[in-house]
Amino acid sequence: MTNLRAKVLWLTFPALLFLAAAVWAQGYITEVEDSGFEKHTRPAVSFAHDAHNEAANIESCNTCHHMYEEGELQDQASIGMECSSCHLEGNSGRLELIRVYHLQCKSCHLEQKAGPVQCAQCHRKAE
Ligand code: HEC
Ligand code: HEC
Ligand code: HEC
Ligand code: HEC
Repeated sequence: MTNLRAKVLWLTFPALLFLAAAVWAQGYITEVEDSGFEKHTRPAVSFAHDAHNEAANIESCNTCHHMYEEGELQDQASIGMECSSCHLEGNSGRLELIRVYHLQCKSCHLEQKAGPVQCAQCHRKAE
C-alpha cells in the first residue's frame, strides 16, 4: 500500500508540475514557433496566445488543440502537444504542417471576417 502510494506520487507530482508550468507558460507565447519547422523562409508569425484568444472570444481550448478518436472530435484538448506532433507525417510533412496551420488560422478569420488573412499580416518582420 505504502509502496503503491509512493509510486503514484512519483508519477503524478512531476506530471502536475509539468502541466502547471505549461499552462503558465502559454500566456507568454507571442509567436508561433513550432519545432516541426527545421528552417523558416518567412518572418515569425505574431500570435499573442492569451490576448488573441480573449479578443477573439474563443472559449474552448480544443477549438485549436483538438483531439480525434476514430475520426470523432473529442472533448479533451491536446494541450502541451505541438501541432507538428500529429501533423508532420510522410514526405509532404512540411507542406502538410503549413497547410493545417494556414487552414486553422485563416478559415476562422475568413468566417468571422476578423483577423488577418494576408501573408505579411501574420508573418511580420521584426520591428
Ligand atoms: C492567419 C495567419 C497566417 C497567414 C495569413 C499566413 N500564414 Fe504562413 N504560417 C502561419 C503559421 C501560424 C505558421 C506556422 C509558423 C511556425 O510554426 O513557425 C505558418 C507557416 C508558414 C510557412 C512555413 C514556415 C516558414 O517560415 O518557412 C510558410 C512558408 C508560410 N507560412 C507562408 C505563408 C504565405 C506565402 C502566406 C500568404 C499567402 C502566409 N503564410 C499567410 C500563419 C499564417
Ligand atoms: C486560436 C487557437 C488556439 C486556442 C484557442 C488555444 N491555443 Fe494554445 N496554442 C496555439 C498555438 C498555435 C500554439 C503554438 C503551437 C505549437 O505549440 O505547436 C499554442 C501553444 C500552447 C501551449 C504551449 C505548448 C507547447 O508545446 O509548448 C500551451 C500550454 C497552450 N497552447 C495551452 C492552451 C490552453 C490551456 C488553451 C485554452 C485556455 C489554449 N491553448 C487555446 C493555439 C491555440
Ligand atoms: C493529437 C493529435 C493532433 C494535434 C496535437 C493536432 N491535431 Fe489537427 N488533426 C488531428 C486529426 C486526427 C485530424 C483529423 C483529420 C486528419 O487526419 O486530417 C486533424 C485535423 C486538423 C485540421 C483539418 C484538416 C483538413 O484537412 O481539413 C486542421 C486544419 C488541423 N487539424 C490543424 C491543427 C493545428 C493548427 C494544430 C495545433 C494547434 C493541431 N491541428 C493539433 C490531430 C491533431
Ligand atoms: C476560432 C477563430 C480563430 C482562430 C482559430 C484563429 N484566430 Fe486569429 N483572430 C480571430 C479573431 C476573431 C480576431 C480579431 C480579434 C479582435 O477583435 O482583435 C483575430 C485576430 C488575429 C490577429 C490580429 C490581432 C493581433 O493579435 O495582432 C492575428 C495576428 C491572428 N489573429 C493570428 C492568428 C493565428 C496565427 C492563428 C492560428 C495559430 C489564429 N489567429 C487563429 C479568430 C481566430
